[in-house]
Amino acid sequence: MRGDGFTLLDLFAGCGGMTRGFLDQGSFTSVGAVEIDRAAAATYAANFDPTGEHTHAGDIAGYTDVPRVDVVIGGPPCQGFSALGKRDPADVRNQLWREFVRVVRDSDARMFVFENVDRFAKTPEFQLLRQAASEDGELADFDTRVFRLNAADFGTPQKRIRTFVVGSRIGPVDEPRQTHAKASIGDLERWIDLRTSFLEGSVLLEPGVRETWLPESTVEFQGRAVPGTFKLRDLHITRNYDMKSETRYAHIRPGRGRFDLPEELQYPCWRRHTRGAGDVLGRLEWDEPAVTIRTEFFRPEKGRFLHPQWANGGEQVNRALTHAEAAVVQGFDDRHLWCGSKAEIARQIGNAVPPPLARSVADVVAARLAV
Ligand SMILES: C[S@@+](CC[C@H](N)C(=O)[O-])C[C@H]1O[C@@H](n2cnc3c(N)ncnc32)[C@H](O)[C@@H]1O
Repeated sequence: MRGDGFTLLDLFAGCGGMTRGFLDQGSFTSVGAVEIDRAAAATYAANFDPTGEHTHAGDIAGYTDVPRVDVVIGGPPCQGFSALGKRDPADVRNQLWREFVRVVRDSDARMFVFENVDRFAKTPEFQLLRQAASEDGELADFDTRVFRLNAADFGTPQKRIRTFVVGSRIGPVDEPRQTHAKASIGDLERWIDLRTSFLEGSVLLEPGVRETWLPESTVEFQGRAVPGTFKLRDLHITRNYDMKSETRYAHIRPGRGRFDLPEELQYPCWRRHTRGAGDVLGRLEWDEPAVTIRTEFFRPEKGRFLHPQWANGGEQVNRALTHAEAAVVQGFDDRHLWCGSKAEIARQIGNAVPPPLARSVADVVAARLAV
């Protein structure tokens, strides 16, 4: 531990959602990050590493100058594990967990936190990670615990279930304590809904947005210009939809999806499929958390991403979430700065660990480190 907190190294750091949660917890200081995507690395640095000196913007395989730290955190890309991906065990991205193990060892960390999609716990890679932490594995001195956590239960306006593997060489950690539930019960508050998040947050995200472009601005990151830095407000931008798309969206009611479309507006490829994929072209609901945000949340055809505002006397909103709304759904607030193009920032948002969820995990990690 340094004077200013337990030291933290974030692998596959993305825009730093996980680091944000750990720093918000109050016991940690960020001393290193590894991220191959330049725009995401620039976002990380803009928030947590103003000189850019401890952000390795490159492949983790080339990350050899590993600092000694208290905790390594990280979530490798999940396409290989995700139910939406091809689930190919030979996918090279699934080998990235090995790099994670290598860095945990090289850093001499006392604890690690490995985050991934829900179904990671059912993959061969998960078994390999468990093996690494068993008697004669590379991480044999780590005791591991697996937690399956829903971000909505930890104060995020989104149902997003993730697997966390927490390893410790200094004794087992407790399960993170849920703070919210579907209905308020005992000392658990009711899940945070979209109405509260968009209309009562630190930045008002008014439904009637017209702007489609990020402001013209670049920042230098490790000798190269990257678009940014942008504030949450700058990300409140929509897209230009064609008339037919808007007409389609106008038919879809809150909590419903493509089955609300009249026959003549169905996509030809959907007509044959009268069942399944009901979330496609779905509309969110004001009084509920969002469904899991993914990297293409700005395309209504890709999930339940239509804005919740239905006619109901007011103006109906026929667009997907803006980047700002998606960031808020992921638990970011107006402190977080962003770098990259619109598509790059969408990827950073969709990939992130919600900071409030990470913060709850950080609580139990800090409690163990402090013993
Ligand atoms: C699921 S995201 C991580 C999100 C992050 N934990 C957060 O909370 O914001 C995975 C990240 O790994 C990065 N990545 C993929 N392959 C990598 C590699 N070989 N070396 C370093 N980073 C890599 C991707 O660019 C992506 O940003």
